[in-house]
Amino acid sequence: MDRDEKHIVLIGFMGAGKTVVGKCLSRQLSRQMLDTDAMIEARAGMTINDIFRTQGEETFRVIEAEVIASLTEFRDPVIISTGGGVPLREENQRALKELGRVVYLRVQPETVLRRLYGDTTRPILQGGDKKEKVTGLLEYRGPIYEKTAHLTVDVDQKKPEEIARQIIAESRRIKL
Ligand code: S3P
Repeated sequence: MDRDEKHIVLIGFMGAGKTVVGKCLSRQLSRQMLDTDAMIEARAGMTINDIFRTQGEETFRVIEAEVIASLTEFRDPVIISTGGGVPLREENQRALKELGRVVYLRVQPETVLRRLYGDTTRPILQGGDKKEKVTGLLEYRGPIYEKTAHLTVDVDQKKPEEIARQIIAESRRIKL
């Protein structure tokens, strides 16, 4: 693969817009988009909620790491949208950086809470005080996302197409 033609990898918290921005990038760059959550569900043959419920988070994280490791098989440059917990494992951090340009979509807790109000598809945020959970997790994960990424883009109050254009312009300057 040409060095400039490496994958674009989107990381960040739940509700940051990784999937929707990924779809915009896919359209704007005419590249295929991969979604690691969808790949996990296909591999396990069940939804993420069901994996967490029947096998627990640790099993989910093991499948997630396998999916990340399997991404090296894609030779043509693609857009990769990752689940919010992927960068938590060091092995995944290394793997993502090797895949291409890693872009952190940084979102404020208020935006996450607004977007994920009533959401039932994220087991990590179910039960208890959502605001406390989102704030605590973001505080812990923020520095991990930053150190895993080559580029950080603030997403609050921006349209997905605009974010995608910004990523295309700024990621060209990333030296790999
Ligand atoms: C998770 C984020 C989810 C999904 C799973 C766990 C996390 O993906 O992988 O529910 O730990 O942050 P999204 O970031 O696409 O919601």
